[in-house]
Amino acid sequence: MSGRRPSRYSEGPTTDRLGQRYRAPLLVRELPPEVAFGFLERVLPTTEPVDLVLELHRIPPERALEIVERARSVAEVELNEPGPGAESSRLEVERTSSRELGLAIARRSQELWKVGLSFVALGSGRERVEMVRARLSERLASLGFRPRVPRYEVTNVLRTAEPGLPGSRPRGYWHTLPSDGVASLFPFGDETVLEPGGILVGLALADASPVFLDRWSHASHSWGIFGTTGSGKSFAAALYVLRSRWLRPDLDLVVLDPLGEFAEFVRSLGGEVVRLADPAAGRLNPLDPITTGGDRREKAARVTSTLRALFPSLRDEEAARLDAAVMRLYDRGPEVPTYNDLIAEVERDPLPDPRLGTLLEVFRTGSLRSVNGPTTFRTAASPLSVDLSGVAEEHRAFHLTYWLDWAYGRMRDRPGPKLVLVDEAHLLVHHGPTADFLDRVVRHVRHFEAGLLLLSQNPDDFLGTPSGRSTLRNLYATALLHLSQVSNEARTFFGLTGAEAGWLPKARRPQAAGYSESLWRVGELHLPLAIVASTPEFEFLSRTLRSSRPSAGREDGL
Ligand SMILES: Nc1ncnc2c1ncn2[C@@H]1O[C@H](COP(=O)(O)OP(=O)(O)O)[C@@H](O)[C@H]1O
Ligand SMILES: [Mg+2]
Repeated sequence: MSGRRPSRYSEGPTTDRLGQRYRAPLLVRELPPEVAFGFLERVLPTTEPVDLVLELHRIPPERALEIVERARSVAEVELNEPGPGAESSRLEVERTSSRELGLAIARRSQELWKVGLSFVALGSGRERVEMVRARLSERLASLGFRPRVPRYEVTNVLRTAEPGLPGSRPRGYWHTLPSDGVASLFPFGDETVLEPGGILVGLALADASPVFLDRWSHASHSWGIFGTTGSGKSFAAALYVLRSRWLRPDLDLVVLDPLGEFAEFVRSLGGEVVRLADPAAGRLNPLDPITTGGDRREKAARVTSTLRALFPSLRDEEAARLDAAVMRLYDRGPEVPTYNDLIAEVERDPLPDPRLGTLLEVFRTGSLRSVNGPTTFRTAASPLSVDLSGVAEEHRAFHLTYWLDWAYGRMRDRPGPKLVLVDEAHLLVHHGPTADFLDRVVRHVRHFEAGLLLLSQNPDDFLGTPSGRSTLRNLYATALLHLSQVSNEARTFFGLTGAEAGWLPKARRPQAAGYSESLWRVGELHLPLAIVASTPEFEFLSRTLRSSRPSAGREDGL
């Protein structure tokens, strides 16, 4: 019996079998436009017997540029045909990202790959293996993939790759991806918390073992810190800035500081502070297309975002008229327009909208006339803090948005590692267009060796909109400090256990403990950490940071 070797291999329509071992392949027809870093751990939990087979072929740069350029011109052509709003914003994103990808390829910071991708569910019986595949398919679909079960093509999916023998592969096998996309397909299941070259972020609450993270070694360099007022966000952010500069002295830092807490800190590091409420600070013309490197269409989109942040009450038809005026301004207006030019453009409308005119008056005679005119502000200083304290509360989101636009340009143009700290980031997510802009910034700055450090009180502000969620998904590390309560949405989104969600409202705050307790989410890891400063760090920070602790009357230096 043992001498005979019965052919134990057989192939069914959608599975094959070798002895008792079944294999059920699954392909993906379409990948989502973005996947979160570490998504594979959700797709392939260790409890499910699934293989991932990857076949990679590097596309030569010249050919890669051609492919990207073609994608861009297709989006361009389609954009010029009127279509529904959602479609055109998708195309807008496509155009922007293919342009940036083109630049990255030219700069050799990204490459394009031809990627063969198949998932293979494994099991000891047909039903079982089909079930494993069905669950896998659901998980993929929930992340925006479009899975596909190959029929009568099992062998063509599963045969091993032979270099030089292209052979035909079924639909859904081949994909074209940039390096970042390829990187996300590698499962770093047990990410170490001792990343060489990283900074000390805290001590494990369980055993005081130190945890080091290196933001530069991951596809996203951005982190988020969330917690109630007084939980220690600003302190932690400044502490990480100190430690990052210690390791990378060339680190460029911009702080967007709505409450003016970081001014002294930045000065003490040898930097400069621009205080918007101070007329001597100089003007940044928010309409200057220099921030998008002269790309007038992209600039028009960003200007629209800033105006929406300023006029949240705009009705649809008013917003549409204003958008059209902004488009005309960048199509045919002066090289570097000012708000006077925008107002003239709005008035040129054959059916001028009186309310729109009244709203824009704020730039001509009202409290924003200081931003109406050419740029006079010039500084290459680093670090640099933009201090918004003293500006009208209803204008904060507006100022924050165009300064973020400016910071984006600075990140793109400067060499070396860069960090932009955005405090009170919730101001940006309350309106759809500014939330979209923030999301784009978080996704794109990694191509410039730059990261954002977003500080905000409550993650729920971000969870309420798709772009807010996308922003959160694209942070490499998220620290949750004391929260007064944890919503179900936050619990589900961060995958918190009941115990973790119950602990956050009890996490100790610095005022009582002398350090802050936090729960870090790094990839799929959850780490309860104490954020502790050394004595010299603590002394420096307590001397230079202005605490946000609510103390009546202090806000304007009274
Ligand atoms: N890790 C820490 N160790 C010691 N003191 C801290 C720490 N974090 C915050 N503090 C102190 O607690 C107060 C509130 O911190 P802050 O960073 O302003 O909170 P938030 O920005 O969340 O409102 C400040 O006085 C700060 O000096
Ligand atoms: Mg703060």
